Amino acid sequence: MSNNRVLTGITTTGTPHIGNYLGAIKPAIEASQQPNSESFFFLADYHALIKCHDPERVARSTQEIAATWLALGLDTDKATFYRQTDVPEIPELTWILTCMCSKGLMNRAHAYKASVDANRDGGKEDLDDGITMGLFSYPILMAADILMFNAHKVPVGKDQIQHIEMARDIAGKFNHTYKELFVLPEAQVDEETQLIPGLDGRKMSKSYDNTIPLFCSSDELRTLINRIKTDLREPGEPKDTDNSTIFQLYNLFATADESAAIRRQFENGIAWGEAKRELHEFLDAKLSGPRARYNELMNDLGAVEELLLKGAEKARAEAAPLLDQVRIAAGIRPLTYVAPKTEKAEAKKKELTPEELARIEEGRRRAILRPVQHLIDAVAAADDKATAAAALIAQKEQGLEGLKKKAKQKAENELDALRIELAQYL
Ligand code: TRP
Repeated sequence: MSNNRVLTGITTTGTPHIGNYLGAIKPAIEASQQPNSESFFFLADYHALIKCHDPERVARSTQEIAATWLALGLDTDKATFYRQTDVPEIPELTWILTCMCSKGLMNRAHAYKASVDANRDGGKEDLDDGITMGLFSYPILMAADILMFNAHKVPVGKDQIQHIEMARDIAGKFNHTYKELFVLPEAQVDEETQLIPGLDGRKMSKSYDNTIPLFCSSDELRTLINRIKTDLREPGEPKDTDNSTIFQLYNLFATADESAAIRRQFENGIAWGEAKRELHEFLDAKLSGPRARYNELMNDLGAVEELLLKGAEKARAEAAPLLDQVRIAAGIRPLTYVAPKTEKAEAKKKELTPEELARIEEGRRRAILRPVQHLIDAVAAADDKATAAAALIAQKEQGLEGLKKKAKQKAENELDALRIELAQYL
């Protein structure tokens, strides 16, 4: 396995728009073309059920998203492209990880907390009103998506960083409790592609209803571009490029030369109507090739289905052996199972690189610190962090006295980990 495994999932609840393309699909496809990386891209249709109970919409979105990635040139021989629900190892791992995840960790998830806050603001008596267990524990499903393939990097939007951290925590807990089987993944956030403006100038997002579907017809594209907000500058007046959605959308698709040319037109006072016409012509030309392929694929969904099933086979060839190890580590074994000799395990350990060892050690430390995270947070929030950190260590040192051997060892491990964690304040 390479140590540059990249994985990301796309929830199947909507029609891909230009923001999805520039922010996620395009960079992912480009990264998958790098020779030294391994890519796993999947349609997160189990995730869709968390927020959308409209079966037609979920099914339609799954078709559209699959066809979109293929139309944009994803090479399915190189990348592993699959549908989450075709890999039964993922929900099985989800359960095992659910048993490794404290409820308190899920209580802190942003998506859950936002729903609770909305209930509170709405004056609801039951703060969990309308919240399903799917929404509550969805970071665990996401952790299983990632850990099942031992991905190193997970390209996501900012709102998903917390979930990747939770996946690390859960992986650390499993590794610590049973066996070092999981890589601790890292979120990869590209600041530049976070800000694709929508029709009203805010971030392009389904929830703002300001999107441009990537493969809408040329006429629809014109109508939408005509809706883009502009300022009141007259024809002939120089236009500000930085604050113009028209310029920015153009720029995101443009080569350096194309970008310089349109910038000059803005400086020379191009009329807004004319700028919109140019943007339409430009985007239409860029998108017409992939749009035609997309329409072909949408008319040949059997072929798309076949590619997805092939992708699932590839994915399962990776997932099944790891899941076997996970089950065995947790004690879910054939009755006749005999553990292999430990020398073998020791020999394997020696083969680990310093980086791998450091990663394992970090996972172990995080798992030890999880129960006292609130104390660490309190130190970080204190005005005088050094005093608060020293006080916490002193208190823990005192607590060691009088403990029995086993409890003492545990408390000493915790103290060691705390000393490392708090060293930054001391
Ligand atoms: N929850 C992610 C989103 O809403 C989608 C997703 C599901 C995902 N599983 C994943 C992203 C695993 C990265 C890795 O955007």
